Amino acid sequence: MDKDAGKKRAAEEAAKHIERGMTLGLGTGSTAAHFVDLVGKRVSEGWDLRGVPTSEATRAHAERLGVEIIEPDETTIIDLAVDGADEADPSLNLIKGGGAALLREKIIAHAAKKFIVIADKSKRVAALGAFPLPVEISPFSWALTVAAMRRVLTEQGFDGAPLELRARDGAPVKTDGGNLIIDCKLGRIENPAALEKALAAIPGVLESGLFCGMADMVIYGDEDGVSIATP
Ligand code: 5RP
Repeated sequence: MDKDAGKKRAAEEAAKHIERGMTLGLGTGSTAAHFVDLVGKRVSEGWDLRGVPTSEATRAHAERLGVEIIEPDETTIIDLAVDGADEADPSLNLIKGGGAALLREKIIAHAAKKFIVIADKSKRVAALGAFPLPVEISPFSWALTVAAMRRVLTEQGFDGAPLELRARDGAPVKTDGGNLIIDCKLGRIENPAALEKALAAIPGVLESGLFCGMADMVIYGDEDGVSIATP
């Protein structure tokens, strides 16, 4: 399967939901980048659109295309947010954060009147958890936060699950907000909503990559077309 063709198809389908005058939440990653391209195309055709980026990479991309950028703290209205995902289950629960932008992505998706997820079909899973769950944590006393995460994960049935500080070239990966990412190799997650809530209650955890009950629609694409899942 040509995954990029699927990503592009999904982005094209999502772009049908753009209306003139909208403020758009712009996601992060290779799939969301196709959507940003389409927003740029609309703007070049004279559409009045603004974008609220979920990462510095997306901001730079949108700016290059001439999309007016609105800072997240300059607006309380986001008409439509469109973003990718690492996994999506039949209830439209998601794992996100492969691109280390999950905190900003969740804030924007939560604020949006409508949240559409776009993905190639390989992201559709029967149950979440094969993809390691990213959790964004404060760098302050991060080892204490990880210890608390281990206790909570044990209570949630994930005793002994490997937790890894995300690193690149020997250095911890820092998010755009200067935070750290812990990748949790959990395997099948039976109750993602309960796990999302339990992780969010840990001081030092800023957000987990579980997005439960947030998506209004998931658009899956492949070379042949798209299929649309709604709650
Ligand atoms: C970034 C994300 C991305 O949406 C997710 O990782 C999917 O990325 P891609 O579209 O490149 O497969 O959550 O934090």
